[in-house]
Amino acid sequence: MTEKLNILFASAEVVPFAKTGGLADVSGALPKALKELGHNVIVVMPRYYCIETSKLEKIPQPLGVPMGVLGEFWAGVFKTTLPQSDVEIYFIDYEEYFGRAGLYGDHNGGYPDNDKRFIFFSKAALQLCKMLHFTPDIVHANDWHTASLPLLLKTRFVHDFAYAASVLTIHNLQHQGYFPKEDIEVLEVGWEYFNPHSLESLDGINILKGGIAEADAITTVSKKYAQEIQTPQFGFGLDGHIRAHSSKLFGILNGVDYTQWNPATDPFIAKNYDFDDMRGKQLCKRDLQQRFGLDLRDDVALIGFVGRFAKQKGIELIANVIHSLLDSDIQIVMLGTGESWAESFFSEVAHLRKNFAVHVGYSNELAHKIEAGCDMFLMPSLFEPCGLNQIYSLRYGTLPIVRAVGGLDDTIVNFDENSKTGNGFKFYDATPEALYNTVIWAVDVYENKKEAFAKMQRFAMREHFSWEDSAKEYTKVYEFALRHKRGEYDEA
Ligand code: ADP
Ligand code: GLC
Repeated sequence: MTEKLNILFASAEVVPFAKTGGLADVSGALPKALKELGHNVIVVMPRYYCIETSKLEKIPQPLGVPMGVLGEFWAGVFKTTLPQSDVEIYFIDYEEYFGRAGLYGDHNGGYPDNDKRFIFFSKAALQLCKMLHFTPDIVHANDWHTASLPLLLKTRFVHDFAYAASVLTIHNLQHQGYFPKEDIEVLEVGWEYFNPHSLESLDGINILKGGIAEADAITTVSKKYAQEIQTPQFGFGLDGHIRAHSSKLFGILNGVDYTQWNPATDPFIAKNYDFDDMRGKQLCKRDLQQRFGLDLRDDVALIGFVGRFAKQKGIELIANVIHSLLDSDIQIVMLGTGESWAESFFSEVAHLRKNFAVHVGYSNELAHKIEAGCDMFLMPSLFEPCGLNQIYSLRYGTLPIVRAVGGLDDTIVNFDENSKTGNGFKFYDATPEALYNTVIWAVDVYENKKEAFAKMQRFAMREHFSWEDSAKEYTKVYEFALRHKRGEYDEA
């Protein structure tokens, strides 16, 4: 019988309160799955300006947060539960740091005080536990924003939480939290951690690097990505450091919250459908074409993209081949926001080509409509720790066209012409030619091998990426972390 654990889950974004990407989806779903396994989980996130407080419960006491040389700051705390669950989520309210439009930055880039903002948030998360008399067995940190937690547990908070083990999940190694070394005095971890095996990097501190060194266990969001980040190609300068800690590194694939992403119940799409009756999908396609001002045609292959306009997502590759692709009889729709060159470039393409449309901005409703209305979903990422949209696409019978990296490689099985099996289309080289050829191949299967295409759709729609399974794997990692904390040697 597995031990029931007290878990503090700290994240910079959580669905449905604030989201820029998949981290929020994971943080809104994994804690619920852990709770269903019997663990006692609380979630904590910053209270950004976009989070309405009128429906939240206000905790009467203020929360004191020690900020080292900067002194003690006082935060407010709000509370509610994650939707359709009794998992408590707490919001750290501090106007000066979080009362802003963006989560991490604005048009000028990242906020210059992101170091202070997220050191503050991480310390506030531990202070909150003290205020609630919640003694965590596990402190689960996510990405660089909360990666100082493993260090704080060993130093500033060592007497408060002597037995708590830490787990750090890397959702994206690209962002590491690199700041001036003077932040050590705000962190209060002690200068002994300013060494190249821990926080130190190029005469500054790298919070993610320190977290990797000091956490009792590290996870990434797919098994393939756990391998990839140990190589120079995907390691963003930390591959050697990660290799040195590989005995405590695990890969656990994200799941899907099927209460949100399911064509049979999705409230955002024109008509619900499922694998036993796909007629609704045709209506969703019409609806999408209408919404984006494309020709209303059933017979044309409609390909979608939803995601951040960031280099990671392969938008440069798409930009390279978009005109050649659009010379074929296909339609493409894109939804995204991010790098401004991409926003203007794709808007310009939409202006020039009648079989292409883009919505620059963030729209959950359109994301759902694209999943449902398209025949195929494009994700040519340069790297992809897990990727959620390709897994959502499977449930909608929208076959993914992906580059074989990270979670994309772990979840998509390439179409096999002989056995007529697979759940999507994969390419390997990050080149415009490989992308172009694969899209054209997928369109050919769509047009000329209709039965095989339909078989793949039915197969894809029946696949199940369960959070319950992932939560069971996290439980094993938590147990590993507790053994690690107690000094019992163990290999990943
Ligand atoms: P990442 O976290 O790297 O951005 P993921 O595939 O894990 O990539 O998750 C992205 C999530 O953000 C998905 O839920 C996707 O639907 C959503 N998303 C990204 N861009 C947009 C957008 N412009 N509008 C609506 N949803 C978006
Ligand atoms: C990151 C990754 C993405 C992953 C998500 C949730 O933002 O880029 O691949 O799915 O986190 O883990």
